[in-house]
Amino acid sequence: MTTSVVADSPEATAAAGERLGARLGPGDVVGLSGVLGAGKTCFVQGLARGLAVSTPATSPTFVLVNEYRGRLPVHHVDVYRTQSLSELLDLGLEDLLGGDGVTVIEWADRCEALLPPRTIRVHIEGVGDEPRRITIDEGKTDRRDGDRTAPPPHR
Ligand SMILES: Nc1ncnc2c1ncn2[C@@H]1O[C@H](COP(=O)(O)OP(=O)(O)OP(=O)(O)O)[C@@H](O)[C@H]1O
Ligand SMILES: [Mg+2]
Repeated sequence: MTTSVVADSPEATAAAGERLGARLGPGDVVGLSGVLGAGKTCFVQGLARGLAVSTPATSPTFVLVNEYRGRLPVHHVDVYRTQSLSELLDLGLEDLLGGDGVTVIEWADRCEALLPPRTIRVHIEGVGDEPRRITIDEGKTDRRDGDRTAPPPHR
């Protein structure tokens, strides 16, 4: 299922993130793409709010992973500065992805090979003062089934 919304303010970008966050469950992975300054962190701030995280999300650009605790553990990863996939493996990304928390990855297109097939894709288009178009691709899984234990569909 793919949905697309236009956000004409940072608040609207965060609100779109909040709506997605409210629907996430254990083990969900969200991969964000969009150019520098598109609004990825802004979206994650809303997403964390949707998961009942009370501390504000900040960009983990320098520490690679931020951890928040809300309704579920939230791992906020930014792979912008990573040099190689092995650096991400050393960091334990696979353990995060296989765990019961929610993992949100900024610049997910830079670690495509590590993302599970079930990854929810969020692409943000637009920059600066432009309105953003936010496209959310949840793949073939109908999340309303609540069946997250089924093996990921082959695509
Ligand atoms: N819909 C919008 N309309 C206008 N400005 C927006 C919108 N959404 C976000 N912004 C603004 O865009 C700027 C960049 O946002 P943000 O830091 O979240 O981008 P980013 O994609 O995480 O950047 P980076 O690639 O550096 O990590 C912020 O000032 C934010 O408030
Ligand atoms: Mg960012």
